[in-house]
Amino acid sequence: MIQVAVFGYGTVGSGVVEVIERNNSIVSANSGDKVNVKYILDLRDFPGDPYESKLVHDVQTIIDDDEVSICCETMGGVGAAYKFTKMALEKGKSVCSSNKELVAKHGAELMRVAAEHGCAYLFEASVGGGIPVLRTLTTALTAERITQIAGILNGTTNFILTRMEEDGADFDETLKKAQELGYAEKDPTADIEGHDTARKISILTDIMSGHFVDSDAVPTTGITGITKTDIAMAREAGYSIRLLGMASRNEDDSVAVRVAPFLVKKSHPLAGVCDVFNAVFVTGNMLGETMYYGKGAGKLATASAVVADVIDAARKGSSTMYSGWDETPVTAAPSSGERFRYYVRCLGAKYDDVQAQFPGGCRMGSFGGETGFVTGMMSEEEFEAGCSKLGDAVLGTIRIYD
Ligand code: HSE
Repeated sequence: MIQVAVFGYGTVGSGVVEVIERNNSIVSANSGDKVNVKYILDLRDFPGDPYESKLVHDVQTIIDDDEVSICCETMGGVGAAYKFTKMALEKGKSVCSSNKELVAKHGAELMRVAAEHGCAYLFEASVGGGIPVLRTLTTALTAERITQIAGILNGTTNFILTRMEEDGADFDETLKKAQELGYAEKDPTADIEGHDTARKISILTDIMSGHFVDSDAVPTTGITGITKTDIAMAREAGYSIRLLGMASRNEDDSVAVRVAPFLVKKSHPLAGVCDVFNAVFVTGNMLGETMYYGKGAGKLATASAVVADVIDAARKGSSTMYSGWDETPVTAAPSSGERFRYYVRCLGAKYDDVQAQFPGGCRMGSFGGETGFVTGMMSEEEFEAGCSKLGDAVLGTIRIYD
């Protein structure tokens, strides 16, 4: 019998219990032995819940039980989740996590602790929810030199951007709708300001580069500045706006990471990723382009990825581990060689000044006294220097993903 404990009985934790129970025959067959949830750890009581008898409030009960070989950490945060994960790993219990914040901050250390104690720290569900992208990067794509990863990694913001485009609505009313539908948190800051995407692209970059990238150091712009005029002008010109986490390999082999909205050509597969769906677009030097698509959040989709890690840990123990990454942080700053085309929303009356400042660009369209313009390829420094000369004529700018 493979005895499992679940830390945190919220949305994902209860999903983990449901996947193990409903798919028990397949989960057990693939694990090589019967899988059973022995404990559920939560501070709360759940009177009447079918698994009420498994509830414990003290993590020590689980840590001290030698029958428990695998823990699922679905608590979130970097406080108790970090402490309990470390306690479990130090007792040789593998931990399978959906906690992107913890993996982004302490993933390298926790993998080292797991290796030292002959168990595994696995976290497929931390990026892209149910999309099997981490394991793909660490198994199927290991012959590749990954040159770029561009991901739609946040369902809340993708829902908002898609609805703004489809409904012609502005940001505030679409955010409200997302909250009413349960797609956005009451406090949506981490999603709409891009911090959630920064954590996920940092984890992908850690794997891509073998070095720790601190998500707090990733240049991050969210979607709060996107107006319905931006969306309308982009649409007219054949683009959708998507919030991308992007990691690009520089010529010197370092990796530039950023989170920002981009104009994406309608013909690009990332533009077809709508509503709460996520996708990760990976470019390798031999394979070329591949894309992994699916539900980036949600109870059962995310739980399915956690339980797949449980099966991996049960079958392979410590040998299932990702190769990991250095614990010392490296800079993820974009290189000065990076070049983009830029969309500029400017005051219609100042359009000629904008055009003169960025020769070689072209007009996109006009709405309500504002005009859209697309520059030629240029470096960030060149673009910012041009914008600073234009002052208040520039109302908004967005990079173009070519
Ligand atoms: N808030 C996240 C999202 C949940 O909207 O994608 C999944 O990490």
